[in-house]
Amino acid sequence: MEKEKTIKYKKGDFTIYWKPSSCIHAAECVKALPNVYDPKGRPWISVDNASAEELKVQIALCPSGALSHNMNEENITLNKNNMDKPKVAGTAPQKEELIEDKNYAWCTCGISIKQPWCDGSHKGTGFSPKVFKVEEAKTAYMCMCKQSKNPPFCDGSHSSL
Ligand code: FES
Ligand code: FES
Repeated sequence: MEKEKTIKYKKGDFTIYWKPSSCIHAAECVKALPNVYDPKGRPWISVDNASAEELKVQIALCPSGALSHNMNEENITLNKNNMDKPKVAGTAPQKEELIEDKNYAWCTCGISIKQPWCDGSHKGTGFSPKVFKVEEAKTAYMCMCKQSKNPPFCDGSHSSL
């Protein structure tokens, strides 16, 4: 079987790995760090334009796993098959207007690009969505960090991330 191609972008000790064939072009990286990720740029990744910490946080949120980096061995091999804990999809709750008796599927794995809702991306991770409905329409604050003890709702746990 042909080995998946990985392209490297390096700044000092920090290297970003990109697997073009895994990329689903969700553009989360472009939205988060437009100075680093420019699809029209050559090269399209400019590692110099953000700190290592900024890059690490953004790479952790890459929904496809096409991006990884060398500062954490786990991240290099992180893919859907070896996720042992959910990804943090956001560090604050997301406000949603919930409709009475509608079935909702809250993403537990954190890799859906339709947060806070499941988009099927959990396939192969061992995670599955939390399906629920509310008895009456209400405004709710959905957990995005995936650490809440009262999922799918925020319980403030994000503040200790
Ligand atoms: Fe996360 Fe479905 S995509 S649980
Ligand atoms: Fe997860 Fe608040 S966003 S507990």
